Amino acid sequence: MSKQAVGVIGGGAWGTALAQMLASDGRAVRLWAFEAPVVEEVNAQHRNTPYLAGIDLNPGIRATTDLADLADLPMLLVVTPAQHMRRVLAGLPQGEGDLVLCCKGIEEATGELMVDAARAAAPGRPLAVLSGPTFAHEVANGQPTAVTLACESEAQWDRIAPLIWRPAFRPYFSTDIIGAEIGGAVKNVLAIACGVVEGLRLGQNARAALIARGFAEMTRFGLACGAQAETLSGLSGLGDLVLTCSSMSSRNFSLGKALGEGRKAADVLADRATVAEGAFTAPVLQRVAKARGVAMPIVDTVCALLAGQVAAGDAVAALLARPLTAE
Ligand SMILES: NC(=O)c1ccc[n+]([C@@H]2O[C@H](COP(=O)([O-])OP(=O)(O)OC[C@H]3O[C@@H](n4cnc5c(N)ncnc54)[C@H](O)[C@@H]3O)[C@@H](O)[C@H]2O)c1
Repeated sequence: MSKQAVGVIGGGAWGTALAQMLASDGRAVRLWAFEAPVVEEVNAQHRNTPYLAGIDLNPGIRATTDLADLADLPMLLVVTPAQHMRRVLAGLPQGEGDLVLCCKGIEEATGELMVDAARAAAPGRPLAVLSGPTFAHEVANGQPTAVTLACESEAQWDRIAPLIWRPAFRPYFSTDIIGAEIGGAVKNVLAIACGVVEGLRLGQNARAALIARGFAEMTRFGLACGAQAETLSGLSGLGDLVLTCSSMSSRNFSLGKALGEGRKAADVLADRATVAEGAFTAPVLQRVAKARGVAMPIVDTVCALLAGQVAAGDAVAALLARPLTAE
């Protein structure tokens, strides 16, 4: 008997890599992409040159621009940029299949997590969150990683974990959907800060200190929002933070590096077709943290840098000059 087909909504780097991973056990995968040329190239050439260059895609991946082609599948991974997710999901016909949210961010207009936006846009569908240390190219190449798969219930996990688990892609069970979301959203902002440290050539000690203090911010914010500490110190929190804060493969890190080297955020972002989620998440994260009374000095610094209100060197000096306090 042939395996059940599954779907992926979003034909960027991460959606295409997830489609490749899912197709690796012979499963048919339907991939919705925003751009018609991407759909044509995936179907005719088994390539996605704009977003995942250099990867030969599994022919079991069939792309479409019509969400109705995915509506009846038992599981859909949602991998649009965070700021487009609500609008894209509003175009998905009703169905009962699980939506597994894989985008990382907070919605700018509303301050809502992806799970809240998805619940409003696609009412009635069960929701889960998949997040962890996952650079798209490595996953597409079959290199191993592990992720948090936060589910509404054990029954949902029993339904979707077998559809996702592959020899090189290992999900871990959690029921902390908020925690899994917050780790992924906050680490993108902290990665910009780590990139700034790199751009200013402040050294490895400074980067490690920033990761540790950034993790303290993530934890404070997460706990204030109802996340569990063990989720934040797991794959979707600390695991992803360490990855994104250590590599130029991260778009957020490379954006921060450019800022540290003295470039303006608007110029760096204008040169890119790909999304650096941290740049969108930073101001809304700052807003939500303020409203909840959570101190996030590193996030505040990233916001000031992105807005061009301060030079990178001055921003770091101001962080270091804050009043002494307990760790
Ligand atoms: N790239 C990674 O390694 C990686 C890993 C884990 C999670 N993520 C997350 O996955 C999400 C998607 O990122 P990505 O790296 O696949 O994107 P990407 O930067 O590779 O591609 C941009 C995507 O935006 C889409 N897009 C552009 N304009 C749009 C519009 N108006 N409406 C709908 N879609 C539009 C494009 O079709 C494309 O799919 C992000 O939230 C990101 O944080 C990425």
